[in-house]
Amino acid sequence: MKTKLLYLDDAYLKESSAKIVSINTKSPQVEIVLDQTIFYPQGGGQPADTGTIQTDKGIFTVSHVSYNDGLILHKGKLEGLMNIDDKALLKINWETRYHNMMLHTAGHMLDQAVKNIDNKNFGVDGNHGIAKRAFVAFKFPVDESLIGKIEDEINSIVHKNLKITAENISEKEINKRKIKLQFELPKNKDLRILSIGSYNPMPDGGTHLKTTNECSKVSITGIQEKKGQWRVSYSIEDRENKIKKDKSDSSNKIISISELKSKVTNVQNLIKNDLIENLVKEELKTKYLGKKGIFNDLAKIISQVGSANKRQAGQILNELKTDITESIEKSVVTSGNSQKKWVDLTAPGIKPKTGHMHLVSQAMEEITQIFERIGFSRSRYPEVDWDWYVFESLNMPKNHPARDEWETFFVDAPMNKKMGKIVLTTHTSNGQVREMERLNSKPPIRMINIARCYRRQQDATHTQMFHQFEGLVIDKGINIQHLKGTLDYFAEQFYGPGTKSRIRPFHFQFTEPSLEVDFSCHICHGTGFLDEKTNKVNGEAREGALGHAPENQRQKCKFCKSGWHEVGGAGMVHPNVLTAGGFNPSLYTGFAFGWGVERTYTLKEGLNIDDIRLLYSGDLKFLEQF
Ligand code: DAH
Repeated sequence: MKTKLLYLDDAYLKESSAKIVSINTKSPQVEIVLDQTIFYPQGGGQPADTGTIQTDKGIFTVSHVSYNDGLILHKGKLEGLMNIDDKALLKINWETRYHNMMLHTAGHMLDQAVKNIDNKNFGVDGNHGIAKRAFVAFKFPVDESLIGKIEDEINSIVHKNLKITAENISEKEINKRKIKLQFELPKNKDLRILSIGSYNPMPDGGTHLKTTNECSKVSITGIQEKKGQWRVSYSIEDRENKIKKDKSDSSNKIISISELKSKVTNVQNLIKNDLIENLVKEELKTKYLGKKGIFNDLAKIISQVGSANKRQAGQILNELKTDITESIEKSVVTSGNSQKKWVDLTAPGIKPKTGHMHLVSQAMEEITQIFERIGFSRSRYPEVDWDWYVFESLNMPKNHPARDEWETFFVDAPMNKKMGKIVLTTHTSNGQVREMERLNSKPPIRMINIARCYRRQQDATHTQMFHQFEGLVIDKGINIQHLKGTLDYFAEQFYGPGTKSRIRPFHFQFTEPSLEVDFSCHICHGTGFLDEKTNKVNGEAREGALGHAPENQRQKCKFCKSGWHEVGGAGMVHPNVLTAGGFNPSLYTGFAFGWGVERTYTLKEGLNIDDIRLLYSGDLKFLEQF
């Protein structure tokens, strides 16, 4: 078998897939062979590529690549596990490879440039990135005096923007097309030849640019005779570097007299302001005339003024200096008589600003404490989790339509056969089966899991990141009354005495029966109206009580409109979820609930936030209120 060499057909492939054919762990380094590869093996003067080979369970860092009898050997370090036949994702370090490609193509252009100057000379060896200095070694002498000429010639090839193409060709075809080869090559075998524009092609197995002007400039850095050959060394400047250089050159641009005058006016305005502000004389002196002051800084500009304008610029700067000195002298405030700089020793000190926890953190802290008081303990699980925990173990098989309700972010990573894809957790319910596993499926389970969740949603009432808290209780004999009792307990603890919970039938895949949970509004005490006096007896809401005004004349509670706030979901844990977590559903039962922290908290504060994004805006005016 032979490794398919993908880089020969497309030198610009940065990533590809492949299958593992063999793994040799005996040599000092691990050695991997693939059915196909984008990794270039060292050869033809071009260095080997580096990069990574990744599978479901392992990652291989490629540090060297070589060619051996039709096989490409990838050498490096293996972390994790890899098996023969595993599918792998290959990634090369593109910046290094692209630089090597540029050097290699430039080497061929250099060969051509020298030939254009001296048509009997030609390159016999080359090094394009392996040695410190890239070079092409020529058969016949190349005189140092030619450096300038060679440089002009090669850069003219660069600027012609010639196409570079490669093709596989038989010896017969080579003879037919009268292609002259520079050196002897194996007979009876297809050859790969590289053409730059219409110049005579050359045999080549490397990776090359598509057009000559991808490297924007080639410089000849020296000529040396070595072992009877003449080495012409070169370096390249690629497009990116050129752009960076162009940018930095802008600091050397020429400044005109009118630009200088406008800068002088700016300084004059600045000092006027400072005088109005009554700055102290000594401070003004350092600010404007000090060693690192504004005047010296501006005066440096003189080097950027064209020579014809230098005299005039000097005059303008001198005038400015006199101007500044006079203005400062006129200023009456000195450190001795400063009206600004007095200290009132009897004034109270300035309090340093102290911060406090963000309101969401405060809420999480409070929720945790409330549940801890009745025997729950807080767990933490990954925010980036397997599909299995987020969906599948919760009775939502792959492709189940219920999953659509959770607008999920998927992570671009290899998937696992059992666990599926990697996602950002859409809800804290991913903690359910994880908690059952953590406790080795042994009751009792009393978990409170508070964590960040992520959904593909962003508008005034939704943020892409938010928080949920999830309760889970499993034991023998747990029933819906335990759930209702827990809800009532939380309602009173969190929202205050008298707050009630209400449950309504609903549907979730992971609970049966499923419920939606409402809490009574603690502003109108569950009545939906604000005329409390007529509605309450001893602080208790008198729903439907006699004696209050007709409904259309009463003032509706603006906060809840109905007396109740919907907060989230709950239910009795579905037998399939218990089974997924290793519990026998005929012996154990459980309940669960899951709500948004932000909503639960803003309800408590009586906050009607028009735009929920305000919570995460970092706006101190808002945050300092809590
Ligand atoms: N995970 C659900 C959601 O994000 C909320 C939920 C509903 C959690 C019912 C539960 C539950 O534990 O029993 O919408």
